[in-house]
Amino acid sequence: MFETLTAPEVDKIIRLMGMFRDDPREDKVDLGVGVYKTPEGRTPVMRAVKAAEELVWQAQDSKGYVALAGDPGYLAAMRALIFGDAVAANRIGAAGTPGGTGAVRQVLEMVKRLTPEATVWVSAPTWPNHPAIISYLGLEMREYRYYDSETGGLDRASMMEDLAGVAPGDLILVHGCCHNPTGVDLDLEDWRAIGELCLDRGAVPFVDMAYLGFGDGLEEDAAGLRLLAGMVPELLLAASCSKNFGLYRDRVGIAMAMGADAERALAAGGMLAWLNRQNFAFPPDHGARVVQTILDDADLTEMWRSELREMRERMAANRRALVAELRQVTGSDRFAFLGTQKGMFTLLGATPAQVDRLREEFGIYLVGDSRINVAGLTDANIPVVAKAVAEVMR
Ligand code: LMR
Repeated sequence: MFETLTAPEVDKIIRLMGMFRDDPREDKVDLGVGVYKTPEGRTPVMRAVKAAEELVWQAQDSKGYVALAGDPGYLAAMRALIFGDAVAANRIGAAGTPGGTGAVRQVLEMVKRLTPEATVWVSAPTWPNHPAIISYLGLEMREYRYYDSETGGLDRASMMEDLAGVAPGDLILVHGCCHNPTGVDLDLEDWRAIGELCLDRGAVPFVDMAYLGFGDGLEEDAAGLRLLAGMVPELLLAASCSKNFGLYRDRVGIAMAMGADAERALAAGGMLAWLNRQNFAFPPDHGARVVQTILDDADLTEMWRSELREMRERMAANRRALVAELRQVTGSDRFAFLGTQKGMFTLLGATPAQVDRLREEFGIYLVGDSRINVAGLTDANIPVVAKAVAEVMR
């Protein structure tokens, strides 16, 4: 069976993690995979998470199975966190998943079963695992223009021009906030325009919400999604607690399907639970329970929100510091766009050869499309990074 097998190529982000780990240089800089880091380069367990874990540990008296969709309390807490009161809770069916990737996969599995002829429209560029999963499932995919590399902003006119080609039943995959890899987000008017387009064409929005709270704040980052949800009859959503709760390895995600009414939402939630059964049966419970414990407790929620605010503000400060340093070393405002973007990521605009040079010569690791994770920047490495970038991208 394996005689002719060669191992599939791993995703460029995962490959880069291995390369960084194997690099013996002490002064190497990791701007690769999207995990939050402190100025000391650690990815910490949040204090609210530690406190909640202790409560869970003390209260838990069984490791018996929970439910195929996960704990209803977790689903309800996440629904409230993400949708607020934008739509009636009973219009949203949901199931817990192993991480945000699990949620993307389960949502697309549902699409494959229900509307296999649908084309999934993704932004150019998008997170590499989107096209990978879409193609793995054998769904059609098309790109819509999104990023304007001249301005480092949104190519709004081209986006709407491309999306005018959607057919009834097609999915429009939108990043909820903190677009990965560009850091360029939609404003409320864009969300409204996409909502109108979906209504007009009978297309279904699919929102990937992996960085809620990393942009402008929990409410602010959810505002576009909530506006859209209030406009359309149906919407799909994948969310992750990897980044905003720092629960990466515990794999905490949720797939949600908003239906036109409670009956349809119940059916969609049932289908997501059934799909869980086919793929892995029960979603992991520990991290989901921790999230639920935090969100159900006012003090823990406050602690978590304040830690999240700290992380968000540190990333924004890193952006500003890098922009200032780059302005100084290049004597130009060429990189000013970095300061206008949101969340963890930005595209520097370096060519693949320049990205290789940054890694090989300077020990600075960024993804091949020149995406950097601004959380990997520190006061100490910002001057080093800016100097190397100015030198390589001269
Ligand atoms: C990233 O984009 O770096 C993260 O979402 C990690 C991943 O799984 O790719």
